Amino acid sequence: MSHFRTDIRQRAEELVALYPRKRSAMLPLLHLAQEHDGYLSDEGIAEVAALTDTTPADVRGTASFYDMFHLEPVGQYVVGVCTNIACLLAGGEELLEHASRTLDCAVGATSSDEMFTLEETECLADCNLAPCVQVNHRYVRTTTPASFDAMIADLRDGRLDHEVPSHGTLIRVKRQGGLRVAKDEIAAERAQALAARTARADAAAAAAAAQEKK
Ligand code: FES
Repeated sequence: MSHFRTDIRQRAEELVALYPRKRSAMLPLLHLAQEHDGYLSDEGIAEVAALTDTTPADVRGTASFYDMFHLEPVGQYVVGVCTNIACLLAGGEELLEHASRTLDCAVGATSSDEMFTLEETECLADCNLAPCVQVNHRYVRTTTPASFDAMIADLRDGRLDHEVPSHGTLIRVKRQGGLRVAKDEIAAERAQALAARTARADAAAAAAAAQEKK
């Protein structure tokens, strides 16, 4: 019996069918397994091994090479704070310490409500907006302790759901086998995300204007 739910299992089989050798599908299958469980569980790894005619040890060995895969449970949101040189000079280390206090968890650990895992990262290639923060591999572009706290509040209250899905979900609009994509769904998804961003920016501008008037 499959560990994956029906839609994930079906996508996994479609992915395997795209490759001449089953094991070539291992990385996309690992992303699916991580989407299913939020991390790479023993059951998910065993299923990927069976799908690719490899062993769990092969799969674990491949997965452990990549930062994007988590072999232990993580929070719903994996928060990465960059402390590489550009971010370090712009206060990245202080921001990481602040994040640890706000989330009440150590770097590398998960908060007690299992909502957040905090990581220190190497350069996230967004140095011009240092210090740089990612949540579930999305750039959130927070730069100050105050904007970090505001972002965490938004995540807690679900105001960023359109931009930051739960950990493990790389994309929400999937390819339909091969290179075919549902273009209408992608356009709708982008429009929704843009509308949410615009509404938040408008609200922030209105709040700033109101503050200035005081
Ligand atoms: S040094 Fe932090 S994003 Fe490049």
